[in-house]
Amino acid sequence: MSIQDELELNSLKAVGRIVRQVLDAMKAEVRPGVTTRYLDEIGGRVIQENGARSAPSMVYQFPGANCISLNDEAVHGIPGDRQLREGDIVKLDVTLEKDGYMADAAITVPVGRVSPQAERLIACAERAFQKAMLVARAGFRVFEIGRIVEREVRKSGFAVIRELGGHGIGRTIHEDPRVPNYADPRARQIMNEGLVITVEPIISSGSGRVFTDKDGWTVRTGDRSLSAHFEHTLVITSGAPILLTAG
Ligand code: CO
Repeated sequence: MSIQDELELNSLKAVGRIVRQVLDAMKAEVRPGVTTRYLDEIGGRVIQENGARSAPSMVYQFPGANCISLNDEAVHGIPGDRQLREGDIVKLDVTLEKDGYMADAAITVPVGRVSPQAERLIACAERAFQKAMLVARAGFRVFEIGRIVEREVRKSGFAVIRELGGHGIGRTIHEDPRVPNYADPRARQIMNEGLVITVEPIISSGSGRVFTDKDGWTVRTGDRSLSAHFEHTLVITSGAPILLTAG
């Protein structure tokens, strides 16, 4: 969506703040031995307390409140009985609706001590996001974001997962434009002030190819390599973007 007035901006900020609270609450409970379902319940409680709703379950009938993906699972992992183990990396991806507005953010959290490679991968996803903030502004074309993300990821020896990327958001989860994590020439749209999008490097320590699991949801890397994800919802301005999900 494109923000029309202060009221819309404030509604988006409100839902963005709840997204951050949910992420923080789940992150605080990440430790060896807890199940992904337990984390989802922690998040679900915060969602309810704030009068918000899980957008993926609302819009796509996702079987859980939050997407929780481990290790080689890139996105859309279903919360369940699996226990976190020392050395895992867990991706928490939260998309909420409140009063008709939506916001989306994700983080990757190490479980206890993780490998140096996993640490570097997690840091790379966030760094690629930060670099993208230099071009996520009015007057630039959408593909500038992907160009800068992929350059940063390649420089670190990793790969972007091309099938997955950012998107317009606001009134529903996935709106135009698509925001690829590579310089896709089709992403030619010029960004205007007020445009609301997600920027979300989703990267892998392997080839970057993925497939959808038998469960119909979980997207995994084909070579079982690790995947990391970092995401905010933001508003395009003529200067630095407004991060709605930064808290
Ligand atoms: Co997203």
